[in-house]
Amino acid sequence: MVRHGRGWPCHVTACASCHNPHKSTVNQDSADGKHTNAVKSCNECHTDQGFNDGMVSLHASFECTTCHMPEVVKNATSRVTRAGVTFGDEMTHVMNIDLFSDKSQLTDDGKFMNPMLKDAWACGECHAPGSKLQSLSDNYGGKIHKAK
Ligand code: HEC
Ligand code: HEC
Ligand code: HEC
Ligand code: HEC
Repeated sequence: MVRHGRGWPCHVTACASCHNPHKSTVNQDSADGKHTNAVKSCNECHTDQGFNDGMVSLHASFECTTCHMPEVVKNATSRVTRAGVTFGDEMTHVMNIDLFSDKSQLTDDGKFMNPMLKDAWACGECHAPGSKLQSLSDNYGGKIHKAK
């Protein structure tokens, strides 16, 4: 588990390129509407992010953050285990996903996270670690998104 902070490095430099500093992300769904658009949608910048055809197209209906910003940072005490993976209480900002990286998710001393998400966290909300990689390679060219 990654402790404290948001799990840097973030992929774009300035917080304000995504966040409106006068609005709260945490309250973005509040009924008074005061915090809508607190954070830019991924699609505003990644306009052409297509998804692979076939079975994998079901994933296209998920929020981008489901895979790219899992709650792997632990600030307070809450933890939850889903599909055998332990998650924390805060979303990471390391959005880069490399399912087939040779590196392990954490550095050898377990203190730091390597700068990409592997499947245990990116997919672990729903799939047990390692359980879908073979099928992804065999049936979908190893990719969630369509080649550009
Ligand atoms: C303000 C514009 C902007 C927004 C909003 C944005 N991105 Fe990016 N993103 C970029 C730029 C610029 C790059 C680097 C250039 C490139 O590879 O296209 C990038 C790169 C990436 C990469 C490639 C890996 C990396 O870390 O460099 C991923 C993955 C990614 N973005 C995911 C997301 C997701 C998921 C969201 C929404 C939660 C998001 N982005 C929102 C501008 C943005
Ligand atoms: C089901 C999980 C999942 C969802 C949902 C998802 N992605 Fe990805 N994304 C990945 C994976 C895995 C990669 C690594 C390359 C691949 O498999 O296509 C990736 C790679 C990327 C990249 C890096 C450039 C590239 O194409 O390789 C960007 C940018 C990106 N995603 C943006 C988005 C945006 C924007 C959304 C929402 C519209 C989104 N992703 C939804 C899993 C997901
Ligand atoms: C590429 C876009 C992007 C950038 C850059 C970015 N954020 Fe975020 N941030 C998001 C998104 C998307 C969310 C999730 C909103 C949601 O759906 O709850 C988020 C959520 C958060 C949260 C709430 C975390 C949680 O677990 O609910 C905090 C705090 C935050 N960001 C702080 C920062 C700070 C500080 C910076 C700069 C150092 C930064 N963000 C840069 C996109 C970004
Ligand atoms: C929010 C839940 C969720 C997330 C996150 C998610 N998936 Fe899935 N995935 C599903 C569901 C539901 C199905 C359809 C039922 C099944 O086959 O397990 C599915 C099916 C699949 C299939 C096709 C069925 C098979 O066994 O061949 C592949 C491949 C797959 N997922 C890979 C991934 C990968 C890789 C990631 C992470 C990048 C991911 N999924 C993230 C929910 C999810």
